[in-house]
Amino acid sequence: MSDKSKKQKEYTALEIEDAFPMGQHLSFAATEAYKRLRSSLIFCLPKNENKNCRIVGITSSNVGEGKSTTAFNLAYSIAESDQRVLCLEADMRLPQISKRLNLETSPGLSECLAGEVLEGNDAIRKINNNLYVMPSGRVPPNPSELLGSSAMSRLLELLSQVFSFIVIDLPPIGAVVDALNVAKQVDGMVMVVRREWATRRSLASAVRELKLADARLLGFVFNDATEGSKKPKKYKGYKKYSKYYYTKQD
Ligand SMILES: Nc1ncnc2c1ncn2[C@@H]1O[C@H](COP(=O)(O)OP(=O)(O)OP(=O)(O)O)[C@@H](O)[C@H]1O
Ligand SMILES: [Mg+2]
Repeated sequence: MSDKSKKQKEYTALEIEDAFPMGQHLSFAATEAYKRLRSSLIFCLPKNENKNCRIVGITSSNVGEGKSTTAFNLAYSIAESDQRVLCLEADMRLPQISKRLNLETSPGLSECLAGEVLEGNDAIRKINNNLYVMPSGRVPPNPSELLGSSAMSRLLELLSQVFSFIVIDLPPIGAVVDALNVAKQVDGMVMVVRREWATRRSLASAVRELKLADARLLGFVFNDATEGSKKPKKYKGYKKYSKYYYTKQD
């Protein structure tokens, strides 16, 4: 199979059923909204002489609020503004970005953190001229610890020399502590809040936990706001994560 047809296959796979479109398939309104988010982040995190790379974590209080969708679309939008961007898939338990882009998950982040892949090169996939994805890698037994490790800070340091923006797709705060462990290693966190999905209580508790972890909360993305009339699916709580803990990990 030629390189060209291989690439084409990846893009058609973006149109999977029941998935909000990503990247180039977005509507005009959604594209504009991601551009606004991009501008706000650039405004919040000015570059300086010592720091050429901005690192942002994307999280939420509950499962399914649109973190992976937001992380990838934000990275796509930043790449369109001529900056070299890495979308880092740090949800090692339920990786969605690599799945939706039809990318192999391994080698990826977990192999880099375990020292199996040196300097991350083999773990980075090129999506277009400026956009790169590092998939989650094989599911490790200890994702939270790996994400909070000194190996993670070293990896981010290394990647910062190559990219001007790193967008990290994280798990929800209400389910696992992964996002809190990463919070100190990034320039700021963005919380995705999905319409009729997050509750005041879950949101308040997630914000409180971020504060306790000394995270810099940059702001909120209100997802699934007005476009279309499709009703949101019923909130499923943390079922997906507990299923993971009690079945896959054992
Ligand atoms: N604005 C939106 N409109 C319609 N569907 C959406 C929207 N945002 C996300 N979705 C859909 O909701 C589902 C969950 O989105 P996504 O995977 O981005 O959420 P997540 O917060 O990363 O989930 P998880 O907690 O499992 O990692 C996907 O099928 C996605 O396509
Ligand atoms: Mg996700």
